[in-house]
Amino acid sequence: MTVLKELEVALEARSYQIEIGTGLLEQCGEKIAPLVKGRQAAVVTDSNVGPLYSAMVQKSLEQQGFVVTVVTIPAGESSKSWQQAEQILTVLLEHRFHRDSCVIALGGGVVGDLAGFVASVYQRGIAFVQIPTSLLAQVDSSVGGKVAVNHALGKNMIGAFYQPRLVLIDLDTLQTLEQRHWQNGLAEVVKYGVIYDAEFFRYLQQHTAAILQRDLQAAAEIIANCCRLKAEVVALDEREGGVRAKLNYGHTIGHGLELAGHYQGYLHGEAVAVGMVLAARYAAQKGMCDAEVETEVAALLRQFMLPTKADAALALTEVMDSMMLDKKVQDGKLVFILPEALGRVKIIKDVSQEEIAALLQKEFEV
Ligand SMILES: NC(=O)c1ccc[n+]([C@@H]2O[C@H](COP(=O)([O-])OP(=O)(O)OC[C@H]3O[C@@H](n4cnc5c(N)ncnc54)[C@H](O)[C@@H]3O)[C@@H](O)[C@H]2O)c1
Ligand SMILES: [Zn+2]
Repeated sequence: MTVLKELEVALEARSYQIEIGTGLLEQCGEKIAPLVKGRQAAVVTDSNVGPLYSAMVQKSLEQQGFVVTVVTIPAGESSKSWQQAEQILTVLLEHRFHRDSCVIALGGGVVGDLAGFVASVYQRGIAFVQIPTSLLAQVDSSVGGKVAVNHALGKNMIGAFYQPRLVLIDLDTLQTLEQRHWQNGLAEVVKYGVIYDAEFFRYLQQHTAAILQRDLQAAAEIIANCCRLKAEVVALDEREGGVRAKLNYGHTIGHGLELAGHYQGYLHGEAVAVGMVLAARYAAQKGMCDAEVETEVAALLRQFMLPTKADAALALTEVMDSMMLDKKVQDGKLVFILPEALGRVKIIKDVSQEEIAALLQKEFEV
């Protein structure tokens, strides 16, 4: 086991560590045991990740005296549902989990969001640990305590802010991730560069080949930097009253595209990639930034094999309707995170639907 980087999410009594390294799964029991009172653990995983890694996690936990129940859900966004949450809650009740028991999320963002949600409501909240295995989960969803399930009428509509006790990022797990999901995570990586860190954006531009090939050093570097940025923002604004909203860059249109495609078309990061390009274009149209921002963002996303143009098969009205269901809509106005330059964004709370519809309309025409 090698711990390459340790970071802290500073939230006073709810502070926790993010450990990034290799061989961490085999040692997870030792790391989790001091952080939880009981010795009963549910490992929530999915049908792709479970067969690869749950035995390793289970063994390590059992070595520390844990009694482990592995719960395997079908892989995919459709598992992030109320029904699936209820099924897991039933398993916890059947196994008489109590307030000192814990839930361990072993998987991508779907497993993390779902298992975290379950942990947040089971007996008013039990301990929860994140072991993210997709790039997207390692750079974004496992840190910060946003947990949720989707509703037919909107993504992440039922959820909570509920922080984990620990985030264990084992870089070895990335080797089995499908290339499309690797690229999907890179969209959120690019996002951090645009919103906070121009130097990081340049680093990404200069290391595209190594990053696409999942070079260990490059992976460690980008994951550590994204976690550092996310940890800083979450420590400043845990419940998204202010600066944390900047992490939603690309997400207003992104969520609209995801929902309009009924989660069957774009992956989350792919939809966000298109959303980031369109938000940059809108910002330039409004005179907030140079047109070059869009050009550079789109070029980097293309190098990471991500889409930069909305899928013409989607219906504009459906995308707009989906967007209006977003949590970020306030008084019928859309909230957009718009770049002023690479590394700097602004939260704009009164973007008109008509202007965004016109922007998307053009996108669908060409
Ligand atoms: N909570 C947050 O702050 C936050 C932030 C961003 C995204 N999200 C959510 O995260 C979800 C997307 O996460 P995701 O992209 O990780 O999706 P996912 O959990 O569906 O994982 C992607 C795919 O990769 C597979 N997989 C994961 N790790 C693997 C590994 N190591 N080896 C082989 N296969 C592996 C999964 O089984 C799945 O098929 C969305 O629901 C999104 O809303 C949440
Ligand atoms: Zn996202």
